[in-house]
Amino acid sequence: MSYSEANVIAGGLAHIPIIVGVFGFIQSFILKRTQTKVNDKTSQASPSTPEKKPTSAPPAPAKTVKKQAHANVPVNTYKPKTPFIGTVKENYSLLKEGAIGRVHHITFDLANGDPLLKYVEGQSIGIIPAGEDAKGKPLKIRLYSIASTRHGDDFKGDTVSLCVRQLQYEKDGQTIDGVCSTYLCDIKPGDKVKITGPVGKEMLLPDNEDANIIMLATGTGIAPMRAYLRKMFEPSERQKNNWNYKGNAWLFMGAPKTENLLYDSDFEHYKSQFPNNLRYTKAISREQKNSKGGRMYIQDRVLEHAEEIFSMIEDPKTHIYLCGLKGMEPGIDEAMNKAAASKGLKWDELRPQLKKQGRWHVETY
Ligand code: FAD
Ligand code: A2P
Repeated sequence: MSYSEANVIAGGLAHIPIIVGVFGFIQSFILKRTQTKVNDKTSQASPSTPEKKPTSAPPAPAKTVKKQAHANVPVNTYKPKTPFIGTVKENYSLLKEGAIGRVHHITFDLANGDPLLKYVEGQSIGIIPAGEDAKGKPLKIRLYSIASTRHGDDFKGDTVSLCVRQLQYEKDGQTIDGVCSTYLCDIKPGDKVKITGPVGKEMLLPDNEDANIIMLATGTGIAPMRAYLRKMFEPSERQKNNWNYKGNAWLFMGAPKTENLLYDSDFEHYKSQFPNNLRYTKAISREQKNSKGGRMYIQDRVLEHAEEIFSMIEDPKTHIYLCGLKGMEPGIDEAMNKAAASKGLKWDELRPQLKKQGRWHVETY
């Protein structure tokens, strides 16, 4: 064998790993593309159009796709036995003079956690109130939806904020104060608080900037919505996330009185800055009347706008979020039922489809 022939053969052999590598790269690229297409299809399939199965591989079940999409969302960084000890930074009333009850915005400093307590919009944290029960055991955890974005209200990324209503009810002629909500409404800046979590993947926002987001909130159910709206419309958030929301967002907010509306001036401001992207509809139950002369609830507002809401739902980019009183769920269902029927659709068939597609998000308590 001549020198040059040996060289050519050796050179050829030396290229085998490169060829194998290139082939492997192409194969994994094709696989990734197939997976992305499957993901896109699953998250964007229209409720009335059954998904088409790709010929090469069956689509991943919706649950798997959701799991993959949310794989990096932090969960249970701090557990009940070893909670994070946060410091109260701020605690102030969100209500105006003449409002009913107590609702507070409370911010905790999370700096110097090891590990850091990180969270994303739509998650909740647990609070262990100070004190012990009758058996001398620690009091049980209560969950609260996070009202801040992951960057916190001051954009420094080391705080978390909550929106808490003090629970009060009458029993045997006595006013009973809820344990944890009273503890939270009363705490002072500098106080130390046991925090667990974060938890929850039900209320996360989609990644696409052109998603349509319909939000139905009663009272403190506004907490996750406040985080979404800050992420969508607060200039520093838009800049920090490099996420320039350009879809249609629509907030339905239920409160007993005008003075009880939460974060109202912020939302009015966003609406004035982004009139083409944000609608804000209020149901003020003890001031406004529904068509039957009863208290105006958000489900009455949903019915008033049924046509538009259902046109939005037909768009696979639309997500619906419900948060707040558990009691509103039947009312919302009834309104959606009526609205769907007027379009020849059946809500009890449509809702599970929306849920399966990860477009129907509910957190009520
Ligand atoms: P408790 O002392 O635990 O009292 C509640 C208990 O009192 C009830 O279990 C019931 O037994 C009794 N009770 C209540 N009402 C009555 C009544 N009318 N008559 C007789 N008995 C009654 N809350 C917020 O304020 N903001 C939030 O953002 C928020 N987010 C939440 C998110 C999730 C996922 C969940 C599950 C709950 C959320 N909550 C939120 C509710 C919160 O977790 C607490 O349940 C609430 O603050 C009351 O706790 P408490 O310790 O004050 O009341
Ligand atoms: P109301 O209390 O007048 O009956 P908050 O938490 O600040 O009290 O706000 C909760 C809002 O949700 C109130 O306006 C309350 O009205 C309203 N609400 C109460 N029950 C329902 C329900 N079943 N469906 C929808 N909204 C409700």
